[in-house]
Amino acid sequence: MDKLVVHGGASLDGPLTVGGSKNTALPLMAAAVLADGTSRITKVPDLRDVRTFSNVIRVAGPAVTFDDDAHTLTIDASTVDHPVAPYELVKKMRASFYMLGALMGRCGEAKVSLPGGCAWGPRPVDLHIKGMEAFGADIELEEGYVIASAPGGRLDGGSFRLEPSSVGATINLLLGAVRAEGASRIENAAQEPDVVAFGEALQSMGAQIDGLGTDTIEIQGVDRLDPISVRNTPDRIELGTFMLMAATAGTPGTPVEIREGAHEHLGQNFKDKFAETGVDVNYEPETVTVTRPETLRPVSIETAPYPGFPTDLQAQWTVLLGLADGTATATDTIYDDRFKHVPELQRLGMDISVDGNTATVHGGAPIKGAQVMSTDLRASVSLVMAGMVADGTTHVLRVYHLDRGYEHLEGKLQAAGIDIERQEYEEFEGDPAGTPA
Ligand code: EPZ
Repeated sequence: MDKLVVHGGASLDGPLTVGGSKNTALPLMAAAVLADGTSRITKVPDLRDVRTFSNVIRVAGPAVTFDDDAHTLTIDASTVDHPVAPYELVKKMRASFYMLGALMGRCGEAKVSLPGGCAWGPRPVDLHIKGMEAFGADIELEEGYVIASAPGGRLDGGSFRLEPSSVGATINLLLGAVRAEGASRIENAAQEPDVVAFGEALQSMGAQIDGLGTDTIEIQGVDRLDPISVRNTPDRIELGTFMLMAATAGTPGTPVEIREGAHEHLGQNFKDKFAETGVDVNYEPETVTVTRPETLRPVSIETAPYPGFPTDLQAQWTVLLGLADGTATATDTIYDDRFKHVPELQRLGMDISVDGNTATVHGGAPIKGAQVMSTDLRASVSLVMAGMVADGTTHVLRVYHLDRGYEHLEGKLQAAGIDIERQEYEEFEGDPAGTPA
């Protein structure tokens, strides 16, 4: 198993380069399944989640090849003869559930494992299921699988309101609706840039969609979709993460360049809150330059669907609050349990506590290196951020979580001035023999 070892105190000089978006690449891959032919997606990041989803798609029949040097995925979906997404793969990555919409849109039938737990449990998929039923699917839940079929082999189309708004459900329902018999309508739809880019790719394939980027999307089903060649968007969460790294680990007064990002995908709330901390930011078409101030102001945030503050930057923001001159809070309104990074940040000395869906941080507590455990993707990168500014060395364990969403992060940070390396290690299974009493 791998860990990242960070020797704190080295300043982040930059430049850093933003890679392709994980959360746009995955729905683009699902879209390729809808077309009888070969699609190409460029600027695809080499991530565990991309490789996992490639395997999920292969099970259904398509041929998927990934040229990781060129960051290019080729998906030949001429054959889709096994409309199944198996548990052993879906459990590894929730977005595999997009195969429900892709297979219903392509074949009119699907057998897709629930992503984990039940449909209505933690990180539910009830909206995906109810929405697909509203579009005409017959759905049974059997032994942890969603068994779906469209009478007559093709969804009718229909209308459904998402409560709450949901990125994944919006994507899944679009996948099902674009080749339905009739018209469909999604209300309270997600407006994230990932969803808009995915919807625009479907339009390039011949789909008839109106209202992308608004809370109401109208679709007129079509008989067939053409394969596409499409360039993935830059990763807005990696951009935001790098901006927060520059604000916390940069040298005060020295600008850090972050290249190839699309800053308009961050949402205005993040930009406003970031500016309130006292950082100096310069936004150019593909480059964001961030200059750390002598003192960071404690700015409270509250996550919300786009264009609100992204929940995927909440953990990273708490590290900035740990360095700020005062007390502030981070409230997550999207998930009420997305604080698994807090106990690990406490191990590093941060004065942070959680009450309900709000973390309160008293900035200025000394941060000292320690062994810490990754628990999920964005939590793990917040631990790397804290290690970068800690006094001493931090071992961030189980970085397979981080590898899901950040491509070769240690290489990017090393090249930008940070003293960080990847090491292999073994975890004890139970108490090692001979442990002193
Ligand atoms: C997407 O997850 C992202 N993942 C997440 O990023 C991101 O945190 C999330 O959107 C919110 O922005 C991908 O794009 C692959 P949701 P998703 O459905 O689609 C509730 C990362 O770090 N809900 O928008 O699963 C749900 O419980 C990942 O890259 C239902 O109640 O999120 C949550 O409270 C982590 N029923 C809220 O909606 C449903 O059927 C928003 O979830 C579906 C969702």
